[in-house]
Amino acid sequence: MTTTQASSNTQAPIGIFDSGIGGLSIARCVAQNLPNEQLIYVADSGFAPYGDKSHKDIIARADVVANFLIAQGVKAIVVACNTATVVAIEALRAKYALPIIGVEPAIKPAAKQSTSKSVGILVTQATAKNARFLALIDTYKQAAQVHIQPCPGLVQQIEQGQHHSDTCHQLLDRFIAPLVAKQIDTLVLGCTHYPLIETQIKAHLPEGIALVETAQPVTNELIRRLSQFNLLTARPNASKPYQVYSSALTEIQQQVIRSFWPSQLSFHQL
Ligand code: DGL
Repeated sequence: MTTTQASSNTQAPIGIFDSGIGGLSIARCVAQNLPNEQLIYVADSGFAPYGDKSHKDIIARADVVANFLIAQGVKAIVVACNTATVVAIEALRAKYALPIIGVEPAIKPAAKQSTSKSVGILVTQATAKNARFLALIDTYKQAAQVHIQPCPGLVQQIEQGQHHSDTCHQLLDRFIAPLVAKQIDTLVLGCTHYPLIETQIKAHLPEGIALVETAQPVTNELIRRLSQFNLLTARPNASKPYQVYSSALTEIQQQVIRSFWPSQLSFHQL
């Protein structure tokens, strides 16, 4: 049942959320492409990672966060989380009437551009076993073999700002080496946290393996949906700092977020 109408105020903010800080990889692309828009970012870090939660729990948290954003008057929501998208976006769209844009692993472009026809994909555990995700692979893999690699523990390393640590490098080696052995030439980053550590991921890949992520296509889709409803702002609105809410706000988290987002942000506990 649809319970909420989209805000028709073009000056209203855009809500973006993830289980934690991963959605910043999407938010930074949105901010670059839509500099006049105001953003509210929610890191549901008190409940991260979503990747090892049940589908029921992920749907419940996505609903709490969407409700919060709608109460802040947002005109659209970007579910900047592959896990929450594949698990919960249908439930959110059924309940709320505003534009809700999701993030799905970029299997289609990856399969198309792969010449070895061997594609690797790094995902969370929940995404790896999700029926919608598996169907997406079946639909778009064409002639390619798609090798799914769940990455337990990696999101926590990024959340804690530990992506330079030996533990993180050992995890990356464990997850990436089996894909390299499968002669992949294209690697899909199927969790929004992973583009934040692109440099560390590249260090584990031989030359010539292309990385594919989804920030730009998601931003393009957001622009398309806002234009469709005449919701793009015509006036500069971004003199205020972006608002960041976290369900587990700590000093360390603020430092980690600032390390990925150098411009001014205003932090709040959710
Ligand atoms: N960043 C999220 C994604 O894109 C999820 C990470 C997690 O909480 O497991 O899947």
